Amino acid sequence: SLQKVETFLQRSIGTDVVAAQPEAPTRDESDEKGGCKSLHALQVERQEQAARSVLINCQSRTREKTLLKYLSSHGDIKNYFFYESDDLYAVVEFAKRENVASLLEGAIIPSGSHESAVPFKSRLLTLRNLHTAKSPNQQSGQQCQVQTAFPITELIKNLSREDSIDQQITSLTETYQLTEENTRLRFLVCSLLNDITAAYFPECTIKPFGSSVNGFGKLGCDLDMFLDLDGISGWNVKTPKSGLFLEYQMKQASSARAVTQNILYVIGECVDQFGPGCTRVLKILNARIPLVRFSHKPSGFQCDLTANNRVAMKSTELLYLYGELDPRVRGLVFTVRCWARTQGITSGMPGAWITNFSLTVMVLFFLQKRSPPIIPTLDHLRDLAGPADKCVIEGNDCTFVSDFSKIQLQSNTETLEQLLREFFEFYGTFQFSKMSLSIRKGQEMNKPEMGPLHIENPFETSLNVSKNVNTSQLDRFVALCQESSWLLQQSETNKPKVNEDSYNVLPWGLATLLLPSQVATINTRKKKRREPASARIKSLLESLKNKNEPKMSEGL
Ligand code: CTP
Ligand code: MG
Repeated sequence: SLQKVETFLQRSIGTDVVAAQPEAPTRDESDEKGGCKSLHALQVERQEQAARSVLINCQSRTREKTLLKYLSSHGDIKNYFFYESDDLYAVVEFAKRENVASLLEGAIIPSGSHESAVPFKSRLLTLRNLHTAKSPNQQSGQQCQVQTAFPITELIKNLSREDSIDQQITSLTETYQLTEENTRLRFLVCSLLNDITAAYFPECTIKPFGSSVNGFGKLGCDLDMFLDLDGISGWNVKTPKSGLFLEYQMKQASSARAVTQNILYVIGECVDQFGPGCTRVLKILNARIPLVRFSHKPSGFQCDLTANNRVAMKSTELLYLYGELDPRVRGLVFTVRCWARTQGITSGMPGAWITNFSLTVMVLFFLQKRSPPIIPTLDHLRDLAGPADKCVIEGNDCTFVSDFSKIQLQSNTETLEQLLREFFEFYGTFQFSKMSLSIRKGQEMNKPEMGPLHIENPFETSLNVSKNVNTSQLDRFVALCQESSWLLQQSETNKPKVNEDSYNVLPWGLATLLLPSQVATINTRKKKRREPASARIKSLLESLKNKNEPKMSEGL
């Protein structure tokens, strides 16, 4: 085994590729059924991988080679990488679970704090080195994998160097999408949390959902997870018709919701009291979907833990499926989300803002409305479903096809550039006051209630996904769509700016849409008094020429 490690080290150290990814699953890996792997299959694979992994704080900055040699005395290392958040960390995947058990067996409880440490042993460890004192300034030289979003000002520069708007959209998507390492880290954090919940419910699993796995996640997005208790054996077993049988005595609560709240209350308390690295734990149990919110310091993730939230898992699967059907879906969603964030349409804080989920549904709806449609309606996906796909959750029909190969796409050849322009045109002139959006039907419907923006929840069709949005937020969205649509029609913005000096590139195309807009600051009542967009753009272009970077928040 040691020899293997040596060869492995020779292969990976000293080259600029530090993380070893011998069998990293890729998006292209197809399964026998259709073009893509189902989200379920991916989740199972990732969960299994995470269960064989540990998270190590490497504050003592031991040389990489020494560290790996030490770790491999417990078993073969399949994959590892380093990253920096509040400290330097390593994610290490072993070949077998037994290797992790062996590693943990050798670990000790922090000395000097025997009495004040909560003796909960987890796979979050700290590397100590008694020899560090000899060379305190030793540089470990680890190459770190970035886990945070790329700064917007840099993105604007990079996009401006591309040759077409299509390439800009592709480049934006590649810059912001979750990396292999970040995905591994997300599953590992779920797995670490699973160890806490398994103390009570050994058969439960913690699964990520939302943007961490639906294909639309951006570096730095929150980590949505849910505690899945459905796997508990005996849950779905039918009562025998005759003969003896035993059943568990179980405590009864007043409702299913009360059970969820009670479980989350206890788990929230455990995470708070016992969970290493888990801070700022908040129990938000009276929300429509009760949840425990906390920060996981070592990974830097903001985590939302829910329970019994199977509909959200279904909507995650649906978004994943749509994203896999045609590459233009992800390109457009990433672009619209990024645009919305830079323009302050979406926000990191809860409030009357449009959410990323609503925006994604808006993009999907728009793509269903193309002629011919780029993606099918949810009703069509339901009609294609086989018997095994049948799924009803709390009376809501969540059935849709899981076999991608059954889905026939129409031949729409519109470019990303055209679609982006049309998107802004579409929503800049949409009749929000009368109509609601339904991706189930793929067409606008009469609004059932008078909220400013109505987007039907795909599975709980009586619910409005964007109920929180107020009139002024919707107005800003529409005004910005109009402005962006206008911008993309201007010849000064939609052609690459030829410039010899590659350090002083002028923003063009998509990059101009990411510059701060005046619409963001106007009050809707003052709309008529604002200066014409062309003048604003000119001054923005000037300001960039003068190397005065626009004031923008770094992370999105
Ligand atoms: N969800 C839902 N209905 C809502 C809001 C959310 O079904 N009204 C589900 C969706 O599956 C969504 C997931 O919950 O993807 C997580 O919600 P959220 O974190 O708000 O959105 P994300 O898609 O994860 O986007 P973000 O990157 O902003 O976190
Ligand atoms: Mg999320």
